[in-house]
Amino acid sequence: MFKGLRVPRFSSAVSRIGRARLQNASPADIIGSDKSKVVAVLPLHGRQKRDRRQARYKTVRLSDGLKLHEMFVMYSVYAAAPSILAFVTTIHLGLVVLRAHRSPAAGAYSFVTFVSVLFAGSPWLLSSLLGLVIGFVVHLGWFAACERLLPTLAAKTPKRAAAPASDGAPRPAGMAQMARRPRDFVKTPVLAVFDETPDVRTFRMARPEGFEFKAGQFLTIRVRADGKEHVRCYSISSPPGAQGHLEITVKRIGLVSGALHATVRPGAMVSVKAPAGAFFYPAGEDRPLVLIAGGVCITPLMSMLRHAIDAEPTRPVTLFYSVRTVEDIAFADEIQMLARRHAQFQAFIAISDGPAGPEFFPGRINEALLTTGAPDIVHAVCLICGPPPMLDATTGLLTKIGVPQPQISFEIFQAAVAASAGGPPVAKASPPRDVVRGLRFERSGSATTVDGDQTMLEAAEACGVAIPSLCRAGVCGTCRTQVLSGDVQCASRMLDEQDRQDGFVLACVTRIESDCTIDA
Ligand SMILES: Cc1cc2nc3c(=O)[nH]c(=O)nc-3n(C[C@H](O)[C@H](O)[C@H](O)COP(=O)(O)OP(=O)(O)OC[C@H]3O[C@@H](n4cnc5c(N)ncnc54)[C@H](O)[C@@H]3O)c2cc1C
Ligand code: FES
Repeated sequence: MFKGLRVPRFSSAVSRIGRARLQNASPADIIGSDKSKVVAVLPLHGRQKRDRRQARYKTVRLSDGLKLHEMFVMYSVYAAAPSILAFVTTIHLGLVVLRAHRSPAAGAYSFVTFVSVLFAGSPWLLSSLLGLVIGFVVHLGWFAACERLLPTLAAKTPKRAAAPASDGAPRPAGMAQMARRPRDFVKTPVLAVFDETPDVRTFRMARPEGFEFKAGQFLTIRVRADGKEHVRCYSISSPPGAQGHLEITVKRIGLVSGALHATVRPGAMVSVKAPAGAFFYPAGEDRPLVLIAGGVCITPLMSMLRHAIDAEPTRPVTLFYSVRTVEDIAFADEIQMLARRHAQFQAFIAISDGPAGPEFFPGRINEALLTTGAPDIVHAVCLICGPPPMLDATTGLLTKIGVPQPQISFEIFQAAVAASAGGPPVAKASPPRDVVRGLRFERSGSATTVDGDQTMLEAAEACGVAIPSLCRAGVCGTCRTQVLSGDVQCASRMLDEQDRQDGFVLACVTRIESDCTIDA
């Protein structure tokens, strides 16, 4: 079977054996090292074989002058021959698999695969060294030709699962490379999961194409829990500069956050919608930044902090971070490390309940802490994210210190009171529960009644009128609806002045104060 396999070291070893005897035997007869016995049976090839006519193998004895180490070389060569062939075949088979993988059009039973498999078998047909080399080079050539001529997987499939289909319209050269922003939910794999505190966890996912965002914006995620689909918003905690991934950091509170903690592991797929939100990093200016966070609401500010360190390394940033206990400090190591390494950044962590070590500030964030921590706070842009009581207290303090209102932006995570950038939320004075108003939907022709507990969105959903919604927190703007007549109160400042004048509201945070007609 190995007839003709030439191995230089072997040939030189054999040439030194002048008196080798010939006989018909097989390579399996390779035996021990007794001086009187045959120790190796070697196949002849080429000229040697022609000279010896019938003989196919020569047998070598130690007594023929073969030294022990020469016999070892010969033995190794013949024992290695099948391994060499198997190795080369494996490389060829690897090429076949790669070929099939890269061109799904070729299919398992196609001509291309058939020829490729033949190449994979070629090492056994061309078992001389020269034959192996030629076979391998031809196979590589075949592979390259297929690459050029056949459509590849990369060309057929969008680069990432999330990539939207191209509309085929011609675009300017620069635009052609710009990813389009997907409008709907896209699936993306979770790459890693980290525990930040006992009940706060970070989920790192592959960043889908078109998911550009500004530090501070949020993702909308769709999760199946209790047999239904639920949608929630989570601020992105990673910086926009991290191109390959994005992270959300979630506190275990209720249904969706609980499901994320319980079920989402690396490798899981999650459905997410493109980032949105009007609470984001103030770029294009050099005023100092003051970030004020409460509990898990540090997430959008963490993205801003990371972005500031990366993108504006001389801009002063001061973080005031309030948590209940030392165990509740999320990103503790990173905050410490950033403060140690970057002179532009200072962090003050306030522990409101329980003991605080010397490195922390005991109690809540107060005027003294703000003014000593950030002496130039009146000139700073202040970004706050925390629960409503903290937000009220902090905006009061900033106003007292003399920070102008336009320099204060904030975000709240809780539905119905959420507001985003541009002043405190409108006071939410719900009409009494037993007061029932009429609500008419102009486009669908339906009508219903609304009690004091319901938002406009809930009333529409209850009578089957579809108003698209996402965050249900007055943040994303998806439920923007025009009021045609009647009085309403919208608890969000997301909408601009023009929208307000035109009667638009965010239905998820709007209460009805008289009989109304809306465009839905
Ligand atoms: C713009 C935006 C960004 C957000 N970013 C984050 C984030 O980065 N990390 C994060 O963990 N959450 C964030 N949230 C909150 C998140 O969307 C969910 O509201 C939260 O995870 C609770 O959802 P759930 O389904 O687990 O609880 P649910 O089952 O909906 O609610 C369970 C109970 O908890 C109460 N509750 C709901 N939300 C809160 C809350 N935030 N604080 C206290 N009690 C609450 C509800 O009133 C209810 O009684 C954000 C919300 C918005 C609007
Ligand atoms: S659903 Fe997002 S603003 Fe209403």
